[in-house]
Amino acid sequence: MNMRVTDMNTVCRPAGSDWRDTTLLAVIAAATALAFGSPTVTRADAPVESKATGSAQQFASIERGRYLVRTSGCNDCHTPGYAEAAGNLPESQWLTGLRVGFQGPWGVSYPANLRLTMRQLSEDQWLASARAPRLPPMPWFSLRVMSDDDLRAMYRFVRSLGEAGQPVPAAVPPGSKATTPVIVFVPQTPESVHANR
Ligand code: HEC
Repeated sequence: MNMRVTDMNTVCRPAGSDWRDTTLLAVIAAATALAFGSPTVTRADAPVESKATGSAQQFASIERGRYLVRTSGCNDCHTPGYAEAAGNLPESQWLTGLRVGFQGPWGVSYPANLRLTMRQLSEDQWLASARAPRLPPMPWFSLRVMSDDDLRAMYRFVRSLGEAGQPVPAAVPPGSKATTPVIVFVPQTPESVHANR
């Protein structure tokens, strides 16, 4: 890709959305869908990117990481409000983690703040961590089959964004109660949906 960061420095504003909570299930349904929107490049805290200016290869890798993150659905779960804004959220808000839990037979899981996760890992540690089994609905099996190069590119891109946000709550084991809002992942029959009305 021959794009330069400066060409992509377009600020996008999220569409006003007070329908966020009601559409979170749609977020999950769209988890593998492509997300469109112009990113904002955050330059203030971009150590990897600045180092990369001398290296066309590494620069390309960050661009590839940006492309992979945008097209492989990570923002759908890991970025609050991303799908509701139709992908038009500035990169400064990307991958900061979700404080709404996903509840199912596995307990309650929270999409991690990947900006913080990747700061704590070396690139090689990331390769192992990215492929480790995770609680649903994290599609860890998709990361497991990504190439080393693709995973490295994602890591370099996310690191280039810098740290942001807070850690998400720890996962809650089955049978215990979450203290945050949750989305319940339990299949409903048409009859039970009707009976609950
Ligand atoms: C359908 C929702 C969903 C999508 C899409 C998704 N994740 Fe996740 N992710 C989660 C949840 C939930 C967890 C927490 C899992 C757990 O607690 O074991 C998680 C955890 C992770 C973790 C573990 C981080 C940590 O610090 O524990 C990594 C790494 C990760 N996701 C990366 C990604 C990447 C990269 C993508 C895009 C390719 C992605 N995820 C897409 C829901 C999702």
